Amino acid sequence: MDMDALKRQAAARALEHVQDGMKLGLGTGSTARHFVDLLGEKVRAGMKIVGVPTSEATRAQAEACGIPLTTLDDIDRLDLTVDGADEMDPALNLIKGGGGALLREKIVAAASDRMIVIADDTKWVDVLGRFPLPVEVIPFGLAATERAMAAAFAESGVSGQMGVRKGRDGHVFITDGGHWIIDAHLVRINDAPRLAGLLSLIPGVVEHGLFIGLASIAVLAGAQGIRVIERR
Ligand code: A5P
Repeated sequence: MDMDALKRQAAARALEHVQDGMKLGLGTGSTARHFVDLLGEKVRAGMKIVGVPTSEATRAQAEACGIPLTTLDDIDRLDLTVDGADEMDPALNLIKGGGGALLREKIVAAASDRMIVIADDTKWVDVLGRFPLPVEVIPFGLAATERAMAAAFAESGVSGQMGVRKGRDGHVFITDGGHWIIDAHLVRINDAPRLAGLLSLIPGVVEHGLFIGLASIAVLAGAQGIRVIERR
C-alpha cells in the first residue's frame, strides 16, 4: 500500500471538518503537508479561512498555496488544528516532534477548540514509546537537564538512551525556536500523563512531545479504509 496515498486520504477526510470562516492551525510533517495542499485547493476555489502555521516549513508551503495566514497575537482562539503524529494511543495521547516542530505544534493545538490528528494506521499503538520521545531543550546546562530527565524517567517507571538530535549534515538540529532536541528511546511509556507532568517541571526543558488530552479526533487511513476515533 502506498503510504503517501494513505496520508492524503486521512488529510482529505479531515478537510471535511473545515467550514467557511474558520480559523485553523496548520500542522507540520508529511501528512499535514497533504492537508495544507488540499486546503490550498479549497482556498483557491473561494473558501474563506485563515491559518496559523506550526513551523517555518508549513508557513512557506501555506504561502505558496495562497492560504491567508495570521498569528496567535492577532486572533484569540482557533476553531480547529489539523496535524500529524508520530504515535497515538487509544486515549488519543500522542508523541509528536519527529519533525522537530513540537513546540509550535503544542502552542497552536492548545489554542484550538479541537485538534484532528491525521495519520496512516502504522502510527496507532497500544502504548506510546516505541517512537523516541522528542524533548525540546535549552542548550545551556544540557547535562543538568539530561540528569533531571533521567530522574523523571525513573520516577515514572521508564528508562532508555537519550541523544541530542543531529541534522542530515551531522550538526546539531536547531528548532524553529533556536533550541535543541533530545530524543529519548523509552520503548514503553506506561503512564504518559505522569511523565508529561514530570518533564514539564524541568527548567531546561522548553517542551516535550507528549500531547496529552489535546487531540479530539483521530483519522487513521489503512489498507482496510479510514477509521475515525473520537476521544471519550
Ligand atoms: C513534526 O514535528 C511532527 O510532530 C509531525 O507532526 C509528526 O512527526 C508526524 O509527521 P509525519 O506526518 O511526517 O509522519
